[in-house]
Amino acid sequence: MSTSKYFSLLPRFVSNAAISIHSGKKVPLILIPVVVFLMLGLQLHLQWGWPSSVGRLIKRPPAAGIVVASLRSEDTAWVHRHLQNWSRTVYVVDDPSAKFTVPKNKGREAMVYLSYIIDNYNSLTRTTIFVHASRFAWQNDDPDYDVLPTLRNLNLTYVQASGYVNLRCIWALGCPVEIAPHVDAPANADHSSNATDGRELTTKEIFKQAFEELMPGVEVPHKVGVTCCSQFAVSREAIHARSKEDYIRWRDWLIQTPLADDLSGRVFEYMWHIIFGKEAVFCPSAAECYCNLYGFCNLKCQENECDGRYVLPQFATLPAGWPRVGWSGEVRNFTGPS
Ligand SMILES: *[C@@H]1O[C@H](CO)[C@@H](O)[C@H](O)[C@H]1NC(C)=O
Ligand SMILES: *[C@@H]1O[C@H](CO)[C@@H](O)[C@H](O)[C@H]1NC(C)=O
Ligand SMILES: *[C@@H]1O[C@H](CO)[C@@H](O)[C@H](O)[C@H]1NC(C)=O
Ligand SMILES: *[C@@H]1O[C@H](CO)[C@@H](O)[C@H](O)[C@H]1NC(C)=O
Repeated sequence: MSTSKYFSLLPRFVSNAAISIHSGKKVPLILIPVVVFLMLGLQLHLQWGWPSSVGRLIKRPPAAGIVVASLRSEDTAWVHRHLQNWSRTVYVVDDPSAKFTVPKNKGREAMVYLSYIIDNYNSLTRTTIFVHASRFAWQNDDPDYDVLPTLRNLNLTYVQASGYVNLRCIWALGCPVEIAPHVDAPANADHSSNATDGRELTTKEIFKQAFEELMPGVEVPHKVGVTCCSQFAVSREAIHARSKEDYIRWRDWLIQTPLADDLSGRVFEYMWHIIFGKEAVFCPSAAECYCNLYGFCNLKCQENECDGRYVLPQFATLPAGWPRVGWSGEVRNFTGPS
């Protein structure tokens, strides 16, 4: 009686299997608890283990995350339109009700980048790419000043191997050396944005003191160089080489510093590569950089220009109608996506 009752709870194929394998009358009885136990295990496995691994196959984690520093007035729709397979975090620094914003709108994009790292320290994508809001801007290292191709062509495998890469390859601005902290610091520098004569201090002048405050106990480098403009990609490992407390401390510095935003932001522009493990002068040759990052290899390069790549524009503001209208109002053959 009790035997059939137990069997009735089990799927038929199990009872059949048990019976056919063990033809003796008392053996199946001993096997029942074992089979029940195995079935329960299988059930739990199906319920919890399998679906998550299947889910992972269907919906892989994004290969990269993009972090965008924007103002309310800037159009960031291109990020969502063109980078759908990446995780996208668009900060709006001057909108407290934005989905992603900063504790204080200070220090330009540095506040955004630090806030992202602090808020996502334990859930970073393998690669994080930090950029400004404008798709088209003078600093983007592309013939159309379009940041999109640089993001799409970026070799994420290379980023993983390198830890940190600056999206800008061309040396014009920032390389081979931008700041000589010990030489550039004025003797009477105090902790405000102004020199004693009332003139506003420059990044070069305030860098030494800022470095000492940000990296206490670390010798201030004699030369600092990196390609300009604070757009770069970093591996999770490179970010994790510093503790979350470090990033919090750096953001607190940004919140508290009396330095003007352009200065405090620019201090970080010349710190990120150091923070992420590079030498204070990080200036791979432009040709090497274009090849490693974007697959444009064997380019012929002169001082500040490589074949068919970036040309330093005359003005920082692109003409109205760019990229389809050029500097003299001429029609350009822009072939990229809208
Ligand atoms: C994004 O997904 C599309 C379509 O699945 C694919 O063709 C493309 O290579 C992916 N891009 C990246 C950067 O993974
Ligand atoms: C990307 O970089 C890796 C590592 O440097 C390299 O082996 C690979 O060939 C590169 N891929 C492309 C498409 O250039
Ligand atoms: C620094 O100088 C600028 C321009 O001369 C002035 O507007 C500003 O108030 C000064 N800042 C400080 C902290 O003295
Ligand atoms: C743009 O394309 C047209 C037609 O293909 C061509 O005639 C013209 O010279 C091109 N303009 C530029 C600036 O390359």
